[in-house]
Amino acid sequence: MVSLSADARCGSALITNTRSCGNDAFVLELQLSAPIGELRAGRFAMLSPENGAGPVIPRPISIYDYDGGIKISFLIQILGRGTRVLAALRPGHKVSITVPLGNGFPETIFNREAVAVAGGVGCAPFLTWLRQREAQSKNTHMIYGARSADRLYELDAFQQAPGRLVCATDDGSLGFVGNAVQAVQTEIAEGRISSDAVFLACGPAPLLHGFAAWAREQKVEAYLSLETYMGCGIGVCNACPTPSSESGAFSDWPWVKTCIQGPVFRLSDIRF
Ligand SMILES: Cc1cc2nc3c(=O)[nH]c(=O)nc-3n(C[C@H](O)[C@H](O)[C@H](O)COP(=O)(O)OP(=O)(O)OC[C@H]3O[C@@H](n4cnc5c(N)ncnc54)[C@H](O)[C@@H]3O)c2cc1C
Ligand code: FES
Repeated sequence: MVSLSADARCGSALITNTRSCGNDAFVLELQLSAPIGELRAGRFAMLSPENGAGPVIPRPISIYDYDGGIKISFLIQILGRGTRVLAALRPGHKVSITVPLGNGFPETIFNREAVAVAGGVGCAPFLTWLRQREAQSKNTHMIYGARSADRLYELDAFQQAPGRLVCATDDGSLGFVGNAVQAVQTEIAEGRISSDAVFLACGPAPLLHGFAAWAREQKVEAYLSLETYMGCGIGVCNACPTPSSESGAFSDWPWVKTCIQGPVFRLSDIRF
C-alpha cells in the first residue's frame, strides 16, 4: 500500500465475502494488503471498485469491523450509483481503498457514561466503539433507531456487543415506538441514562438535526458524526465543508473540512 499522510494508506483490497442485510444494505468484507494498526472507532475509508465500473469519485464509508490485521468490513446502504456498483461486486473482485481517514470518536470520554444514538446505517461506526468500551460496558448504552425493524441492520451483532442496547422503530415493529431521540428522552426521564452522560450521534440528517436541537436545549455534551458529501477524503478538494461555530475549537475559520477535521465534531464546535 502507498502511504498518503498521517496513518492513511491507499491501495487495493480483495473482496472475501459479501452478504445482504435487509432489503437495501450489505456487508462488504475485504482483505487488505497490509495491516493498518490500531484503529479508533468512527474513522472511515474511501472505496471504489477497481474494475472501473463505478463513478470516478470514491465513496466515504465508516469502518464497521476491523480485526487489527488485514480483515476489515463495511456496512453499506445502497442509495445511488456509487453504492450500487459496490453492491454488485463479488468475492475475488478488488476495490481501491484509502484508509483509515478522519478523526473518530473522542477517546477522552472513555471513563464517562456514554450513549451512542444511531439511525439506520448510522449504526456502522458504533460496533467497534461498543467493543472498545468493553471495560466500561455498564456505563455504555446504544439507542438504535430506524423506520422499521428490517432497517435495524446487523441487529444480532449489536445485541452481542458490550453495553446496553435499546431499539426504537417509528412504526413500532420492534422496541420503543418513536425515533431514537425520543427514546433517549424517555431513557433519561425514566432514570436509565443520566443527562450527565456524553452523547454521540450518527445517522440520517433529520435524526442528527433533531438530536442537535435536543442536545442544545438540554445542554448535554454531544458529538455528531457527519455524513457530508466528499470528493477526496484527504483534505484537498474542499467538497466537504461544515460551518464552524464562532466560539468553538475552529473559531479561527468559518468552515471546517469534514474529512480531516471530522467526521466527528463536538456539537458546540460547529453550526449544525
Ligand atoms: C464519513 C462518512 C461515513 C459514512 N459511512 C457510511 C456507512 O458506513 N455506510 C453507508 O451506507 N453510508 C455511509 N456514508 C454515506 C455514503 O458515503 C453515501 O451514502 C454514499 O456516498 C452514496 O453514494 P451513491 O453514489 O450510492 O449515492 P449518490 O448517487 O451519490 O446519491 C444517491 C442519493 O443519496 C443522497 N446522498 C448521497 N450521499 C449522501 C450523504 N452523504 N448525505 C445525505 N444524502 C446523501 C443523494 O442526494 C441522492 O439523493 C458515509 C458518509 C461519510 C461522509
Ligand atoms: S473530501 Fe476533499 S477536502 Fe474533504
